[in-house]
Amino acid sequence: MKVFITRQIPAAGLDRISSVCDCDVWPERMPPSRDQLQQRAAGCDGVLTLLSDRIDAEFFDAVGPQLKVVSNFAVGYNNIDVAEATRRGIAVGNTPGVLTEATADIAVGLLLAAARRMREGIDNVTNQEWATWEPMGFIGQDLVGKTIGIVGMGRIGAAVARRLHFGWGMSVLYTSRSDKPEIDDQMNARRVELSTLLTESDFVSVHTDLNPQTEKMFGDAAFAQMKPTSVLVNTARGGIIDQEALHQALQSGTIFAAGLDVTEPEPLAADSPLRGLSNCVILPHVGSGTVASRDAMATIAADNLLAGLQGNPLPHQVE
Ligand code: DGY
Repeated sequence: MKVFITRQIPAAGLDRISSVCDCDVWPERMPPSRDQLQQRAAGCDGVLTLLSDRIDAEFFDAVGPQLKVVSNFAVGYNNIDVAEATRRGIAVGNTPGVLTEATADIAVGLLLAAARRMREGIDNVTNQEWATWEPMGFIGQDLVGKTIGIVGMGRIGAAVARRLHFGWGMSVLYTSRSDKPEIDDQMNARRVELSTLLTESDFVSVHTDLNPQTEKMFGDAAFAQMKPTSVLVNTARGGIIDQEALHQALQSGTIFAAGLDVTEPEPLAADSPLRGLSNCVILPHVGSGTVASRDAMATIAADNLLAGLQGNPLPHQVE
């Protein structure tokens, strides 16, 4: 079986695949271009992809009808046209469950950094501008006893809520497609409409997937409903936030600060005005970036790929 792996991945997964497959691994740090992706994958039985690889009908046409499986090295799979893959009988896999805690840690880190103005503080020290301790200097927002609004109460949303409820005594509001009685019981949490969540929360953390309904769901109208002291955190997908509207909201004081692990595009455009805002903390999409999480993602991605090559159901298949 011939497979193309679109980037170097941890040995935990690569060794499993290369022991049984004829394996072509993209050797460079930067992703293959669209043409390179299609050329290298042409004739393969399986591909292991990253969230930056766009996998759609054109890709499937270029690769050929022998393609059995696309294994995404991510829990999110908005880079893949899953309906088109399913129509062609190509299995699609993802890596859920193993990056939950690592991503929740980054969400809480961003929340804390944005609420307590850490970017401004670090810049101040780095630029040799720290003059003296000031009673009114770098005043941020308290966390204890405040309200966290979780947009999308899946695994990662629940892990963030647990940290903030049990660690900082926050009340928990959330949006979700379904009731979550166990979450309500554990954390005395309340499922609400998005507008209630936006108006009542002190912190809002985004954990929904990116789809046509959630694209740019945070725009002018959403920011107008949030408190001027509120902090927005996004560790899901950049496209969920309208970045022009966010810039305006941060600059005008409509909201207090934001912490982003994801942007649109990635990397953030060189001339994006968000880069220059001291109340916007931006990380280079590192939510799952721990040894254990990335090793586990590689293992699951390999298992999905190998199962698909053998025509078996994938351990983690998406539809
Ligand atoms: C994912 O898995 O979807 C993350 O965004 C990257 O780890």
